[in-house]
Amino acid sequence: MKLLTKIVKLLTKTKPDMKTITKLFLFAGMFIAVAGIFFSSCTKEGPQGASGTNGKNGVDANETCKQCHAPSMVDRVATEFEMSKHSWGVAEFEEAGNGACTSCHSQKGFIYVCQNNVPSTFTLTAGKYVNDYTPDAANQFGAIGCWTCHSSLHTTYGVADLAFTTTAPVSMTMWAGASGKDINLPADSGVSNMCAKCHQPRPITLGYDPTGRVLNYDDLKNNPSSIAYDSTLGNGNTGVKPSYRLGVHYGTVGAIYAGVGGIEFPGLSYSNSPHTTQAACPQCHMASPMTGIAGGHSFSMRNSKETPLGASTTWNFNGCNVTGCHADIPIDKNTPKWATTRANIKLLLDNLANKINDIGQGHKILHADATSANLWAGIATGNWDGYLDFYDAASNPGGYWKLTTTPKFPTLTNAQLGAIINFQLCLREYSLGIHNTSYTTALLTNSINALP
Ligand code: HEC
Ligand code: HEC
Ligand code: HEC
Ligand code: HEC
Ligand code: HEC
Repeated sequence: MKLLTKIVKLLTKTKPDMKTITKLFLFAGMFIAVAGIFFSSCTKEGPQGASGTNGKNGVDANETCKQCHAPSMVDRVATEFEMSKHSWGVAEFEEAGNGACTSCHSQKGFIYVCQNNVPSTFTLTAGKYVNDYTPDAANQFGAIGCWTCHSSLHTTYGVADLAFTTTAPVSMTMWAGASGKDINLPADSGVSNMCAKCHQPRPITLGYDPTGRVLNYDDLKNNPSSIAYDSTLGNGNTGVKPSYRLGVHYGTVGAIYAGVGGIEFPGLSYSNSPHTTQAACPQCHMASPMTGIAGGHSFSMRNSKETPLGASTTWNFNGCNVTGCHADIPIDKNTPKWATTRANIKLLLDNLANKINDIGQGHKILHADATSANLWAGIATGNWDGYLDFYDAASNPGGYWKLTTTPKFPTLTNAQLGAIINFQLCLREYSLGIHNTSYTTALLTNSINALP
């Protein structure tokens, strides 16, 4: 709806242009008429030729192209978009051609999985579970750009071409398409579902199971004291194989925002904050006017990339403080709704990290990185990034833990593995609870209490 209103506004703005164009046409018409008289007076009259077929009506540039190709539309948005990590990030180049990665990390892959309704299930093929959520081989590339989200551009050459690639509920790839595990964000006609289709966690598969099936997350909750990984068995294990990257990948926002997909240990009941049904991603991430590099098609709320939580950070709160949301008691970085919420969630993350690290009995098991290579540096006090401090020749050569030689990674119970997953979900949602305070609070508190 908001988009339509904006478009209507922009259309009304183009009216003066139409007047100018009409004048130009009148002028051109007069010129042709005068020239016609001049030429006919100089030529000898021959026999009349056959009438030609009528030409096709031309498309009126003012009615179509200019609706978008104007300084206030495409030109402005393209400049804003250069500030977006969708544009300057390099993952789309790194992952081009990489099967399942390209359903989120490439334009063609994303459009393919949307248009072909590719399911997020796994299928047993020749004894191995294969991830179906993959574009075909010819569609595994393309930088994220205007056409990724507005995939009908240049089809009818009208503003309706700005329509979104998808707004359908998202069947979660982490849960291999399990029923009841859909992300469905109805606010603003479902635009957030498009964001969540990429910004969703990924599945954890069983490295010790020859079929490589997806971890049974319900089992973690239902049988918390069972063993998920036994450090005395080594290659004799049958389940999850610990490693540096064991986990749910980066895009956890969609799940947390919708309040779905965590390992829901009992305790505090699971509910959602009002944002889940009443706010859409663009409201906070595309607020206008821009503040520095935050807002609009930068998709950023924070006006700085260098200082994640530093004192100099400024924010674009224009989206929060609109009528119907927080206009009555406007939010800034010192108001309790912002500052206290974030401090509370940070404390819960810190407490859960301590309990997870205790599993190592003397050496922490979480990996820390205080540099900007860690997207989540400064979110929790220990600068955790959600990885495990595992030795990995390529990704973590200084890592401590090993699988079969000492120091051997410790045994994990289902409760401990579930708590690690929930820690990743809540750390990597990045907003310290702003996305969905209630769900984040319950997930973290109940995980802390599920551990001894
Ligand atoms: C619904 C909005 C919209 C309409 C209507 C529209 N365009 Fe575009 N056009 C775009 C966008 C968005 C881009 C990409 C801009 C960018 O990448 O910075 C684009 C890019 C272009 C380009 C650059 C080449 C390319 O494909 O990237 C040309 C040429 C172009 N448009 C011509 C036209 C013409 C001619 C018309 C009218 C007949 C028209 N457009 C109507 C949105 C529109
Ligand atoms: C086609 C998949 C896709 C869609 C759709 C998508 N994103 Fe993204 N988004 C990404 C990827 C991938 C990155 C990281 C790019 C990189 O690192 O190269 C990203 C980055 C971001 C970032 C910056 C994150 C950071 O660490 O700085 C924000 C904020 C964001 N997206 C918000 C949104 C919002 C809001 C929407 C919906 C309007 C959306 N995204 C739709 C895939 C997508
Ligand atoms: C379900 C969608 C999805 C799939 C599938 C996916 N990713 Fe991502 N990935 C994302 C999103 C979203 C982000 C950005 C998250 C953020 O910054 O908040 C991201 C971030 C990344 C980054 C970090 C980029 C940076 O700027 O630091 C890397 C690297 C990456 N992904 C690699 C991969 C690889 C390799 C695969 C396949 C094995 C893969 N991804 C599959 C959604 C996905
Ligand atoms: C990651 C998804 C995404 C990408 C990529 C994207 N857009 Fe958009 N675009 C949106 C969303 C969401 C909205 C609606 C914003 C709102 O509701 O406030 C929108 C709205 C618009 C609008 C109408 C409202 C306005 O801000 O004027 C224009 C024009 C537009 N986009 C052009 C572009 C152009 C040009 C590009 C490429 C340079 C682009 N978009 C890339 C998601 C995207
Ligand atoms: C109520 C406001 C609000 C809404 C709605 C919202 N976010 Fe956020 N989001 C935030 C805040 C605040 C942060 C932390 C920003 C930071 O530290 O730079 C954030 C951070 C993020 C980040 C990571 C980092 C970055 O650089 O911005 C991504 C990705 C993201 N949000 C995606 C989404 C998606 C996808 C949706 C919709 C499902 C969404 N957000 C809805 C407020 C919001």
